[in-house]
Amino acid sequence: MLTLKLLYHLTLILVKRLFIDLLSISCTPDLLPLSRLTLRSYFVILFLYKLSKKGFTLARYARVIGWGKYLPAKVLTNQELERSVNTSDAWILSRTGIRERRIAADNETASSMAVRASRGALEVAGLKPDSLDLVITATCTPEHIFPACASSVQHSLGAKQAAAFDVNAACSGFIYALATACQFIGSGAYNNILVVGSEVYSRILDWKDRSTCVLFGDGAGAVVMQAGDSPPGMLSFALGNDGSRANSIFTPGPCGLSSGPYYITMNGPEVFKFAVNVLCLATRQVVKAAGLDLSDIELIIPHQANTRILKSAARALELPPEKVFINVDRYGNTSAASIPIALCEAAEQGRLKDGDHIVLVGFGGGLSWAAMALEWGSGRRKK
Ligand code: ACO
Repeated sequence: MLTLKLLYHLTLILVKRLFIDLLSISCTPDLLPLSRLTLRSYFVILFLYKLSKKGFTLARYARVIGWGKYLPAKVLTNQELERSVNTSDAWILSRTGIRERRIAADNETASSMAVRASRGALEVAGLKPDSLDLVITATCTPEHIFPACASSVQHSLGAKQAAAFDVNAACSGFIYALATACQFIGSGAYNNILVVGSEVYSRILDWKDRSTCVLFGDGAGAVVMQAGDSPPGMLSFALGNDGSRANSIFTPGPCGLSSGPYYITMNGPEVFKFAVNVLCLATRQVVKAAGLDLSDIELIIPHQANTRILKSAARALELPPEKVFINVDRYGNTSAASIPIALCEAAEQGRLKDGDHIVLVGFGGGLSWAAMALEWGSGRRKK
């Protein structure tokens, strides 16, 4: 990346000198400027050729300029779960790190929570909803098969100029959506994009199945991404999927062959092993692709599924525990909402400073995984 930037700036200098040569040729009959012109033209063409071979386009960086979250008011503690299912606070806490989770009210949906989180993100960004070009919602618990959850969010926010669609990559969905937003920004198609993760897993849980119902919670998190022509912004990303392991965690749906009920089925230990492995692989991959070392990373914000998964991954990456953000104790696993909620909390707690290098990394149904390295900061000058 640095080499590309260097080549780009060298080419700019040479192009400027070319113009000076052209001017001097038109002013003097001297042959020296003419030979300099030929030489410089050769180098410019060579550099441009090399740049194009590397797929280089003029850089447009996608920055996070706003963040927001919404957690439903109802708190469901482990002690309350002890009364309805054969489990214990001690088991849940020691096996998962979860103490409590939030549960959506009857009148709350993925889109209504997404709207609450998005309003917060727009306020931090200082952006009006009608400046948005696109709304992407990452969810696997939308209220409708169609229209998309994002359609409802777009309407409720009054984002009249924005296109809208959903992404479903289970718990990896937010990073998939973020990477999609970065492509629209990188290509120059759009400047301002809202990316939201919102889930109501409480509606797809069998509340009598202790192996799943203690793990999940409801909530939403959102970010506003904006185009910039230099860092900060997204530096690299990695997305992946292993469809052969789709049965490790899944929820049937009303259009499939099952007649319901539509509850989560999961092979916990298998997902656990996959998660630790893929968190490490994907993190290393994006850090390397960004031209960084793991020691350059100030904070990793992983999908919040289980403290043991996160601690095992941190150990394998030889990262001190304080470099891995954890809030699963208060919200449980909120699937596609967990990373934006955690990102928002990290920002609110002042744990993200301008210029910090951070990694977002997730895994989930698919089995899917996703990671992104970013340089943090809005790119705006401080007043
Ligand atoms: N309370 C008490 N006992 C329980 C509970 C519970 N809530 N759940 C399971 N147990 C019991 C089991 O029945 C089993 O008992 P047995 O030994 O008598 O058979 C015992 O505890 C151990 O069960 P395991 O499943 O082996 O427990 P494990 O240590 O693997 O922990 C857990 C289970 C927490 C689910 C873990 O495997 C895990 O976190 N896996 C990853 C899950 C995950 O991250 N899923 C989200 C993916 S993201 C997405 O896309 C949605």
